[in-house]
Amino acid sequence: MTVSSINTERLIERIFTLGEVGKDGSGRRTRLAASSEDKTGRDLVASWMEEAGLRLVVDRIGNQFGIWETEENRGRAPVMTGSHIDTVINAGRYDGCFGVISAIEVVQALKDAGFKPVRPIMIGVFTNEEGVRYSPDMMGSVVYAGGYPLEKALATVGIDGTVLGDELKRIGYAGTVEPGFISPYAFIELHIEQGPILEAEGFDLGAVENLQGISWQEIIIEGRQNHAGTTPINMRIDAGLAAAKVNVFLRELCNASGGKTVSTVGCMELKPNAINVIPDRAIFTVDLRNPDEKTLKAAEKALADYLTELEKSDGVKISTKRLSRFEPVLFDDDIVKMVEESAKRRGLKCRRITSGAGQDAQMIARLCPSAMIFVPSHNGISHNPDEFSENKDLIGGAEVLLDVIRELSIR
Ligand code: GLV
Ligand code: MN
Ligand code: MN
Repeated sequence: MTVSSINTERLIERIFTLGEVGKDGSGRRTRLAASSEDKTGRDLVASWMEEAGLRLVVDRIGNQFGIWETEENRGRAPVMTGSHIDTVINAGRYDGCFGVISAIEVVQALKDAGFKPVRPIMIGVFTNEEGVRYSPDMMGSVVYAGGYPLEKALATVGIDGTVLGDELKRIGYAGTVEPGFISPYAFIELHIEQGPILEAEGFDLGAVENLQGISWQEIIIEGRQNHAGTTPINMRIDAGLAAAKVNVFLRELCNASGGKTVSTVGCMELKPNAINVIPDRAIFTVDLRNPDEKTLKAAEKALADYLTELEKSDGVKISTKRLSRFEPVLFDDDIVKMVEESAKRRGLKCRRITSGAGQDAQMIARLCPSAMIFVPSHNGISHNPDEFSENKDLIGGAEVLLDVIRELSIR
C-alpha cells in the first residue's frame, strides 16, 4: 500500500500553534527545558498524540513518547522518530518542533490510510536537547541511549539555580519508566537544516550522512580587580582582556582551518561588571565543533596550550570545566539512501549533508541505525526568531519522512 501524503494544512497550523507557546510580553519565544512554558508545549503535543490515538509514556528523564502499536506488531522493535520542543532563548518556531509535529502527522496519515506496519512506530520528544538551561545538550536522548547517567542528569543544576529533576516533577513530566525501556529498530529524525547550504545550492532536501563533534567548556579567568582610571596599563591583570584574547585566538584557529572548525563564545560574564573597575573574573563558554574527531581534538589542545601561554603572558589564573563532549557521528548509509530514493521519487532535489548542529539522532544512533532529513532554512538563520522554512519545503520533508517510516516499519 502506498500512502503518499499527510495533512499539510494541519502540519503548518500546528507548527504555528506550538510556536506561540512560551512568548513573553515582548513576543520573544523562550521555552527552556522543564520550564512552565515547556510544560504548556508538552501538554499541547500530548493532546495531539492522544488525538492520533497514540499510547503516551513519559520516562524518568522526562522524554515524552507516543507509541502506535497493534495487536499484531506489539513487542517488536519499533521504528522511532521524533526530536525536541525545548528552545534556546529568543528562538525560532521550527527547530525541533518541525520533526515532532511531522512525526505525529505521519502516524496519523498511515492510520487514516489503514496501513498495517509490521513494527510499532514510536515518536520521541526528548528532554533538554538545547542544553541552554542544563548541560549537556541532547540530555534526554543521551540518557535514553545509556550514554549519560540518569541520576547525574536529574541532579543537574541549571543556569537559574534550579535542579532538573525537581523541575520535571514540578511540571508533571518526571515519568516512572526507565529511559531506554524500548530498543528501537531504527531511528529517523526530520529537522530544519539551520544552515545556509541547501538554499544557497538550490536543493529541496538534505540526506544527513554525518554530524560534527561538539566540545563545550566553561573557562574562568581570574585577574585583579582595580581602579580603571588610576591603574597604569602595564600594571593591570585584566581578566576581561584575557577573555577577549581567547575569543580572538579561537577565531584565528577557525580561520586557519579554512572554516572547517567553528567556535563560539556565547556566554560571557565579567565580575564585578562595573564601568570603572578592571574585572577580576571572566567566566565564559566555548562551543567548538568539527566533523573530524582528530581535528577537533587538535583544536581543543591548541586552545589548552593557548590558555597556558596566556597565564604566563598576562599573569592571570585560568581554570576550565568540561560541560559537554560528543564525538562526530556517521549515520546509517541504508537509511540515508532511503531518504535519497524517496526524494528522487517525489521529484525533490536532494544532496548529502553534514549536520552542524547537535541532534537527538546522534544519541539514538548509539542504539540503532539512524539518520536525518533536513529541509532548507531561509538564509541559514536559526536559534533566532527569524528562523524560517518555506511551507513547500516543510511539506516535502514531512512526506519523505512518511516514506522512510513506512518503509522501515514493514522491514
Ligand atoms: C543544538 O541546537 C546545538 O547544536 O547546539
Ligand atoms: Mn534542534
Ligand atoms: Mn537548536
